[in-house]
Amino acid sequence: MPKVPPRIAAFINQKGGVGKTTSTVNIGAAIASLGRRVLLIDLDPQAHLSLHLGVDGASIGQTVYDLFLDPDARIEDAIVKVRANLDILPSTVDLAAAEMELANTADRNFLLKRRFDEVRDQYDFVLIDCPPSLGLLTLNALCLAGEVIVPMQAHFLAMQGLSKLLETVKLISQGLNPALKVGGVVLCMHETQSTHSKEVVAELDQFFEESVGSGLPWANAKVLRPAIRRNIKLAEAPSFGQTIFDYAEWCPGAIDYRTLAERFVREWERAHGVDSGTFRAAQVAESTTMVAEENARATESTPSASPAQTVTEQKPVLSKAPKAERAAKSAVVESAPIPIDSPRSAPQELSSATLSAEPKQIRRSS
Ligand SMILES: Nc1ncnc2c1ncn2[C@@H]1O[C@H](COP(=O)(O)OP(=O)(O)OP(=O)(O)O)[C@@H](O)[C@H]1O
Ligand SMILES: [Mg+2]
Repeated sequence: MPKVPPRIAAFINQKGGVGKTTSTVNIGAAIASLGRRVLLIDLDPQAHLSLHLGVDGASIGQTVYDLFLDPDARIEDAIVKVRANLDILPSTVDLAAAEMELANTADRNFLLKRRFDEVRDQYDFVLIDCPPSLGLLTLNALCLAGEVIVPMQAHFLAMQGLSKLLETVKLISQGLNPALKVGGVVLCMHETQSTHSKEVVAELDQFFEESVGSGLPWANAKVLRPAIRRNIKLAEAPSFGQTIFDYAEWCPGAIDYRTLAERFVREWERAHGVDSGTFRAAQVAESTTMVAEENARATESTPSASPAQTVTEQKPVLSKAPKAERAAKSAVVESAPIPIDSPRSAPQELSSATLSAEPKQIRRSS
């Protein structure tokens, strides 16, 4: 098999509460279940990603904060294994102070990249959960990542935020990280039936289509499919320290994130010429998904257990370190990577002639 470099994606949106953490955790967990080695980096002082996976950064040895501030801290000591193939670099509230404490440090934008380089060979996919701001922490993510994924809602104002974010990515790609691209948009809490969201999605599709060949960092970006439907199970899972696959593996949210993650893996490996058979797990999952979607539709129309009942049945594990048994249980496919079917053309090259092209404005939907 050709050597595939790690796909390193920063989940960024300066707007809060749009689905960054939920997407990072659940896409990461789904990729790990396909047998790829995944590292999730919690770059948010709110530490929601760590809590979502049942890791309390305050009660464990080292965190991202130590890696930023303590030259003697070792990245191996900060990484926590939470499930089969799924590691995290946890955060704590201390991280909020890092931006100020590092204000006079030379090369402060590359601290995370330098630390990550020590373990680069150990991972196939790295997903970074960023805080809802474009400060030093997010800059460190942008200097490490190969691409930006933008979780967002299909609302008009969110599109204006996207324009600003694209401008930021363009600036970084012109200086600090020339390799940086925009991978695409993940539509979170998606209202499939709303006319407004349909209009916004159409605008987004058109915007990205028109950017093809522009040489801009988003020339190959797209709206990633499927959109993640609004599903209360996704909001409940974090209080148990569980991914959506631990908590309700066939709910609509799990189905959407699993399908999206499979495409995310397949697209990357095909782009790097991996062609070693059939994408077996994806095919199995796709057929199971069809059955499960039917079941989910049927279940959604019947009343489900109240949150209070659920809490007594499944104990929250917020402040406990995850157990090895849970790791083993959550692994859908153990360690061996699952091959995929056919090669795909390499990502489009940037040409210097098109690099200066002005970014297109995202239009307001009428
Ligand atoms: N598809 C969904 N359906 C229902 N609830 C969702 C969905 N996606 C996310 N949520 C919930 O919405 C809230 C915000 O999501 P999340 O924490 O992932 O956003 P965020 O962008 O990481 O927020 P922040 O900017 O504060 O870090 C959370 O309570 C989460 O559980
Ligand atoms: Mg978050």
